[in-house]
Amino acid sequence: MRPYLLGLALGLALLAGAGATTWWMLDQRALARAATTYDVPLEPVDIPTDDASRAEGERLAWLHGCHGCHADSLQGKVFVEEPRVMRLVAPNVTQAIRAYSDPELARLIRHGVKRNGTAAFAMPSGGFYHLSDTDLGRLIAHLRAAPVRGDTWPPTELRILTKVALLRDEVPTDAGTMDHAAPRIGASGDTSLVGLGRYRASTICTECHGITLRGQDNAPALVQALGYTLPQFTALLLDGRARDGRDIGLMGTTARRRFRRLTPREVEGLWHYLRAMPLTSSP
Ligand code: HEC
Ligand code: HEC
Repeated sequence: MRPYLLGLALGLALLAGAGATTWWMLDQRALARAATTYDVPLEPVDIPTDDASRAEGERLAWLHGCHGCHADSLQGKVFVEEPRVMRLVAPNVTQAIRAYSDPELARLIRHGVKRNGTAAFAMPSGGFYHLSDTDLGRLIAHLRAAPVRGDTWPPTELRILTKVALLRDEVPTDAGTMDHAAPRIGASGDTSLVGLGRYRASTICTECHGITLRGQDNAPALVQALGYTLPQFTALLLDGRARDGRDIGLMGTTARRRFRRLTPREVEGLWHYLRAMPLTSSP
C-alpha cells in the first residue's frame, strides 16, 4: 500500500474507533440514568387473610389496571414495542412478586420504586400513592393469592430514541417526579360520598387524566364530566358509552374492562366530586 493510503486508512480507523468509543460512553451514561435509584424507606403493611378482603383486593386490582397492563391473569405482556424507542415488558406479576417482601411490594405500588431501588417505567404510582393502608393490604392479599403462571417474556430493551431522551432527562417516571411524602388522600378519613369520589378519582382516573385530573395526552380535563347527568355518567363508567354516542376509544374499553366493577355509590361519589372539583387545585 502507498504511504498516503496507509495514512488515510489509519486515520479512518482511528475516527471510527473514536466514534464507537464516544457512542459506547453515551450509551453507558444513558443506561446509568435509567439505573438511578430512589431512597424511599420501607414501611410495614398489614395483609388480611380472609376471603372477603382478597375478593375486594381483586376488584381493586382490576379498577387500578394491574390486570390489563399486566394482562388478565397478571401473567405479563409486552407493553410497548416501538422499533427505535423501546420494548417495555410489563412483567409476570405472579412470578415477580415472589422475590418481594410485603413492604417492598407496598413501596413498588405506592412509590414506583422496584426492589433494587430503581424506578418502574410506566407504573402510575403517583395515583396509587393515595391508596389507604386497608386497600393496599387487600390488593397485596389478592396478588399473593393469584395462581403462579409460567409465562416468560423477552427482556425490556431501551433503544436509541429512549437513550437520547434519557440523556436529556426527558423520560419522566412517577418515582422521579412524585412527592413521596405528600398527605395521603386515602388516609384522610373522609367517608362522605364526595370523599369517596375524590379518593377513587385520585387513585384510578389520574393514571390517564393526569395527576391533577386536568388532562394528559388524549384524555381531557375531567371537568368535562360536568356535561354528564348521573345516569349518563353511569352509562359512561359502567358500559363505556359517551353522552353523545361517540366512540371514545381507550376510555370506552377501559370502562368496559375495568370500571364496570365500580359500585353505584362509587359512581355517584365520583360524579359529585368531579362536578364540585375546583378548576385550579389538585384532587
Ligand atoms: C400503565 C400500566 C401499568 C399499570 C396500571 C400497572 N403496572 Fe406494574 N408495571 C408496568 C410496567 C411497564 C412495568 C415494568 C417496569 C420496568 O421494568 O421498569 C411494571 C412492573 C411491575 C412489577 C415488577 C417490578 C420488578 O421488580 O420487576 C410488579 C410486581 C408490578 N408492576 C405490579 C403492579 C401492580 C400490583 C399494579 C396495580 C396496583 C400495577 N403493576 C399496575 C406497567 C403497569
Ligand atoms: C386508561 C386510561 C384512562 C383511564 C384510567 C380513565 N380515562 Fe377517562 N378518558 C380516557 C381517554 C383517552 C379519554 C378521551 C376519549 C376520547 O375522547 O376519545 C377519556 C375521556 C373521559 C371523559 C370524557 C368523555 C366525553 O364525553 O368526551 C370522561 C368524563 C372521563 N374520561 C372520565 C373518567 C373517569 C371518571 C375516570 C376514572 C374512574 C377515567 N376517565 C379514567 C382515558 C382514561
